[in-house]
This record gives sequence, structure tokens and C-alpha cells, in this order.
Amino acid sequence: MAIEREEFGSRIGFILAAAGSAVGIGNLVGFPVNAAKNGGGAFLLIYALFIALVCLPVMLAELAAGRNSRKNPLGAYKHFAPGSRRWFIAGWSSLITPFMISVFYAVITLWLLGYLVEILSGNLSSLAQPEYFGEFINSKQVFLYLALIIGGTGLILLGGVQKGIEKAAKLMMPTLFIVLLILVGFGLTRDNAMAGVAFYLIPDLSKITPSVINGALGQAFFSLSLGMGIMITYGSYMSSKASIPHSAKMVAITDTAVAFVAGLLILPAIFSFNPEVDPAELSSSSVGLVFSYLPKIFLGLQSSAGYFAASAVAAAFFTLVLFAAITSLVSIIEVPVSAVMDELGQSRKQSLLTLGGGIIVLTLFCALSFGMVDFFTDFIPYGGDTRSFFDLVIDVFYETILPLNGFLICILVCYRWKRSNMNEELYIGDESFRGSFMERYIDFALGTFIPAILLLVFINTVLLKFFTIDMIALLF
Ligand code: PHE
Repeated sequence: MAIEREEFGSRIGFILAAAGSAVGIGNLVGFPVNAAKNGGGAFLLIYALFIALVCLPVMLAELAAGRNSRKNPLGAYKHFAPGSRRWFIAGWSSLITPFMISVFYAVITLWLLGYLVEILSGNLSSLAQPEYFGEFINSKQVFLYLALIIGGTGLILLGGVQKGIEKAAKLMMPTLFIVLLILVGFGLTRDNAMAGVAFYLIPDLSKITPSVINGALGQAFFSLSLGMGIMITYGSYMSSKASIPHSAKMVAITDTAVAFVAGLLILPAIFSFNPEVDPAELSSSSVGLVFSYLPKIFLGLQSSAGYFAASAVAAAFFTLVLFAAITSLVSIIEVPVSAVMDELGQSRKQSLLTLGGGIIVLTLFCALSFGMVDFFTDFIPYGGDTRSFFDLVIDVFYETILPLNGFLICILVCYRWKRSNMNEELYIGDESFRGSFMERYIDFALGTFIPAILLLVFINTVLLKFFTIDMIALLF
């Protein structure tokens, strides 16, 4: 007898879980700094346009494909293109991608936990030392934190869709919103905060170059957790009473709002600590910022508010980012978990055990990539440098392959499943979608310029990352 597919228990439960996936380190740190460096208000506007015009339609397509097939991504590809070898490979790509992303994301999440524990133990001042991060990631403690993160995430996933994923999101997401708002309120009342806000928001059109536009699209795409199979999987757990267009809009709005508000926290904090700072010089890597730069910023509060308050603010911030990371990690591991359940007919527990071993081994390889083991540290040369195993996983699965997966899902939905069938799925639970402007726009865009743009971004990234050929610079 087939086991009945699990479902989210409520509309808000789905929205919080999907927003939990979407809101991650990218929103809280990556977006604010990118925006500040790349044209402020002008970047924000371009980003918002990409979210609405390119990413939202892809999200609808992923959710509809998931709910209609009631399958994991590989199952969905097989459902819409039965017997096709090529689509089977595409399906595999949307399964391996989340698996590999989960591996390096688990490493970043365990660092966040480690930093939080250190701050709570009164060690903020050590975290602010320049050499601390390098020492921390090579210390034995990482194995303990790794076990805690994998164990905790595993327990949430073991609870299933309603009692695990949905419950965790219902607890963590509202906490995240509240802590974020409190921190923003605190940040905005610091001296010099307004200089940061001005830097963040005043549009500077001269900074908008083709590569900034390319970057904004990449950021928007991964910020909404697209191309990772997550929305297909979460869509497969959506009730047929829920409106996909409405839920997707809510997720996109929440994700963008959190990214925007996070800027009101990060930029004023940076400016009030160091009014002379030139954000153009800030590292564009979120990892560098979170673990090396921000502890210094928080410690800087000591002179005006005292060590205890500085540690409390830092602890609140790291809790915020940790929660965001855990809900994202849960969503990304759920993709292969659901695939093993669907494809091999295993129970949730068996499936977690099957995958857990692989994830732990690969996560260890990543964790050993920072100097502990030479083989993983100097893993492979490309793009003019020797890269570690961790770098390779990030470059291939996070930075490069997502737009390709997005392109493939657009083509699958529009030309195998057909748009009219997708629209029928979108009417379920939402009659008002029929004949709407959104429907007409998506009907046109999803089979034409959206996949074209995604393919171009993919080609551009491959050339740049692996062959150091800057197509944009050559063309413009
Ligand atoms: N959307 C997340 C972010 O903005 C990206 C992500 C989702 C990463 C799920 C891993 C897993 O950071």
C-alpha cells in the first residue's frame, strides 16, 4: 500500500517553512554588503525587479511541478518526461546540487554555533582577534559542533513535514523576525548610524555595471532557494487548497524584506564603529564578514555600552544567523531525503540514515579543507589557483549550477509538461489566478526570456570561474 504523502498543516506553516529556507546568510549579510558596495538604492531596485520578474515565475513553476507530481525533483523530472535519458540526467542534477550544498552549508552552520557558544562563554574579545577564525576552523571543537548540527538537523527532519520542518519554522522564523527588529532598533540609535543608512540606500547609478546586474540576479536567484530542488520538494507537500501564486508572493516578499531590513542593521553597525570606513573595501564574501569582521564590530560597542551589552548584541546576532542557517539546512537536506523515500520506498528514518553517512563524510572532507589535511586543502587547480575541496563544492554547486538547474526546470515545465497544464495546477486553490496579469506575464516569460537569461548567467559564470574569461568585460 502506498504511504500517503505528507502535507504542510497550514498555509502559514508552508509560508514560514519556505521563507525559512529562503532566508539565510545570503539575506542577512550577503545582500546588505552587496547593495552598499554596488549602488545602494539602485542595486535594491534592480534586485527587487529580478525577484518579481525572473525569480517569482521560476518559483511558481517549481512549486507547481512539485505539487502536481507529488514527487521529489528526480521523481518530478521522471513524471513529466518519462523514459527520457536527458531529462533523467537533469533530474539528477537537481538532486546532487542540494546534497552537495548541504555539505558545505553544514560546515558554515557549525561555525555559527561555535561562535555563539564562544560569545555566550564571554569570549567575544578573542573572536575579534584577526587570527581567531583560522585557528577555530582548524580546531578539534569543530567535530563536536558538527555532530551537534547534523544531529539537531536530523532530529528536525525525523519529525517529518508537519511535526519537524513546519514546527521548527513556526518557532524559529518569528523569533528571527523579532530579534532582527530589536537589533535594527538598537543599531539605528547608535552614533553615526545614519551615515550607514545613507550609504546603504542613496542610489548611485554610476556603480551599476553589467557585472553588478549579473551579480544581483545571481543573488536574487539563490536567495529564493531556486534551482536547488527545494521548492519542488516543498511544493509536493502543499495542500491542494493552498494558493501557489499567493504563497510564493508571500515568500518572495518576506525574503526581500528580511534582506532589506538586515541592511539597516549591518551598515549602521559598521559605520558607527568606524565612521571612516569605505564599504567598497569590505570583503564581498559573507563568510569573511560574519566570522572575521562582525565580531570586531560588536566588540567596538564595548566602549559605549560595556562588554556585557556588546556580547549580548553579538549573541543575539549569531542566534539570528544560526536560526536562518538551520531552517535553510533543513530544507536542503529534505530534498535528498524525500528522493530516497520516494525512489527507494524507504521510511523517513531509513532515508535519513542512508544519507546521513554520506553527508557526514563529505562534510568532514570540507571541514578538513582548511589546512588540517593537505589533500583536501590543495584539492584541485582551476581558475588560476589551487582550490580546496570546500572551495570546489561552493564554486560548482552554489555559485555556478543553480541558474542551469533553473533553466532546465523552465524548459521542462514549458515544453514537456506544457504551460497550459502548469496553469491548470496554479488555478487549484486560486481561481483568481485565471486570466490575471500575472498569468499572462508568466505565460510569456517562462518559456522565453527567463530561461535565456538564466542560461547566459550560467555560461558567464562557468567562463569566469573556471577559465578566467570575463565575457561581460569582453562584450561591453
Ligand atoms: N536562500 C538561502 C540564503 O539566502 C540559500 C540557501 C538555501 C542555502 C538553502 C542553503 C540551503 O542564504
